[in-house]
Amino acid sequence: MKVLIHNTPDSAVDCVAGLIAGRLQRQPDAVLGLATGGTMEAVYARLIAAYRRGEVSFAQARSFNLDEYVGVPPDHPASYWHYMRAQLFDHVDMPAGAALLPRGDAPSPEAEAAAYEKAISDAGDIGLQLLGLGANGHIGFNEPTSSLASLTRVKTLTRSTRAANARFFDDPAQVPRLAITMGIGTILRAGEVVLLAHGEGKADAARAMIEGPLSAACPASALQLHRKTTVVLDQAAASKLALRDYYDEVHPAGRDAPI
Ligand code: F6R
Repeated sequence: MKVLIHNTPDSAVDCVAGLIAGRLQRQPDAVLGLATGGTMEAVYARLIAAYRRGEVSFAQARSFNLDEYVGVPPDHPASYWHYMRAQLFDHVDMPAGAALLPRGDAPSPEAEAAAYEKAISDAGDIGLQLLGLGANGHIGFNEPTSSLASLTRVKTLTRSTRAANARFFDDPAQVPRLAITMGIGTILRAGEVVLLAHGEGKADAARAMIEGPLSAACPASALQLHRKTTVVLDQAAASKLALRDYYDEVHPAGRDAPI
C-alpha cells in the first residue's frame, strides 16, 4: 500500500485527479470504477477542468460506479445516477451507455446486483478503482463485518452511514436502509485502487485501514491484500498514523517519486 500524505486537502485532490487523468492519457479505453460522496466532488471538478483544457477524454472509457440506493430511481435527486450526471457525466465526452451504475429501482435488487457483478467481470474487471472512505471504515457500501470476499450484492446500511448521507435527502427519514454495492472481492479484482480521504473525521478509519489488523471490522483494511493501492490523505486524515514518519520519508509531502 502506497501512502501519500499531502499538506492540504486541495493538494490531495489534485494528486488523485492527476492519477485518473494520467491513466486516461496512457489508456484511453480504461475501465474506471467510480465513487460518489462529498470527497469526490472536487476530484470530478478537476477532471472536468482537465477535459475542458483538452488534456483528457472519456470518449473511449467505460465506468462502473460502486453503489446505488435500493428503491431510488435514476432521476431522483438523491440517486447516485443523478449525482454522477451532475458532477461528471453531463460535462465530459463519455458516451451514453458507457457509464453504468446499478439500477436502484430494479424489480429485483438481488438480480440487479448479480447482473452488475457479471457486467463488471465481462468488461474484464475494473482497471482503476477510485474509492472514498467511510468514517466507519467502509468502502463502497461494504459496512463493517462485510465479507472480505463479497461480490456485488444488497447491503443494509448502518445508522451512522445513513446519518452521514442524510444531507443529500430533503428528509433524513427518506435515506434508504438498503443499497446495492460492489463487494470487497469485486474491488480487490481491480488492477489498481486509488483511495482519497481527508479531514479529521477519517483519521481513525485511515489508521485502521493502513495499520490495523486485516479485519472485516474495517472493510477498507482488505486493501492491505491488494497489490497496487495508493492511499492519498491530507494531514488531518493522516494524524493518527503510527508510522507517519516513514510515509513522509518515502514520499515527502505526498510526492510519488523515489527519494
Ligand atoms: C460512495 C461510496 C462511499 C463513500 C464514503 C465517503 O459511492 O461508496 O464509500 O466514498 O462514504 O463519503 P464522503 O466522501 O461523503 O465522506
